[in-house]
Amino acid sequence: MTAIPRSSAEFYKKATAFWNYPEVPYGPALRGMIRPTDVVADIGCGIGIVSRYLAGLCRRVIAIDRDETALDVLRAELSGEDCGNIEVVHACWPQVQTDDWDVAVAFYHHHFGYTGEEIETLLRKTRRGGIIVNPGIRQREGFCEDLGPEFGITNLQKSCAGGCYVRGRLEQAGFDVTCEEISHDFGQPVDSKEEAVAYAMRQLRLEEHQRPKLEERIMFHAEEVDGQLVLPIKRFNCLLRFTR
Ligand SMILES: C[S@@+](CC[C@H](N)C(=O)[O-])C[C@H]1O[C@@H](n2cnc3c(N)ncnc32)[C@H](O)[C@@H]1O
Repeated sequence: MTAIPRSSAEFYKKATAFWNYPEVPYGPALRGMIRPTDVVADIGCGIGIVSRYLAGLCRRVIAIDRDETALDVLRAELSGEDCGNIEVVHACWPQVQTDDWDVAVAFYHHHFGYTGEEIETLLRKTRRGGIIVNPGIRQREGFCEDLGPEFGITNLQKSCAGGCYVRGRLEQAGFDVTCEEISHDFGQPVDSKEEAVAYAMRQLRLEEHQRPKLEERIMFHAEEVDGQLVLPIKRFNCLLRFTR
């Protein structure tokens, strides 16, 4: 039996491998925008799943995040493989002092592009364009939304992060913008009930005394996808593409 992931990063890596993220669903958009000679900024890169994918599409990736712990995971992974074209930068966007870039990528940063300072920085540092993924207008669906209320958790629904608002700001700044809704299955693959419980404990931030009830309930919320047990999560995202 495989070991249960010990951190959020390990759970996340398992999910990205299972769903082939970011090729699914963003590969076509990325390949449509990025050229082999480009410098690409991955803003809010986290543990660098997208950065490593981008490294195969362009000349150089500037991977930026404010979370040193996530960057440490990325650095550790890079030390073992041939990804010499990724530069890891610890910074809090939009305060970044890096070289300029051809294309900016910001996936699941959540409130990317909300402030004037961010738009000004994009305008100043971006030579050609970029791709942003923010939560869309439809609510997420999945096991958290179904199971949470059984534990008195009702505040899971995030309000629309307003991709349209970001679109307006980008257009005001002079960028051409298109946007589309992308639905994305991103359920958490788990190999056992124990692992499902470990993941749900984390995601719902449950306390130890709630564990026995979770153990009773969790398998009612799991489903099988291509022979793999999954705790379902469906995201409805807003994909914005902007160009000068
Ligand atoms: C949900 S993760 C997404 C990681 C990655 N983009 C992906 O799609 O796998 C969001 C990341 O954005 C980072 N982030 C959020 N706000 C930021 C900011 N102002 N500056 C730098 N990083 C930021 C967080 O630290 C986190 O690592």
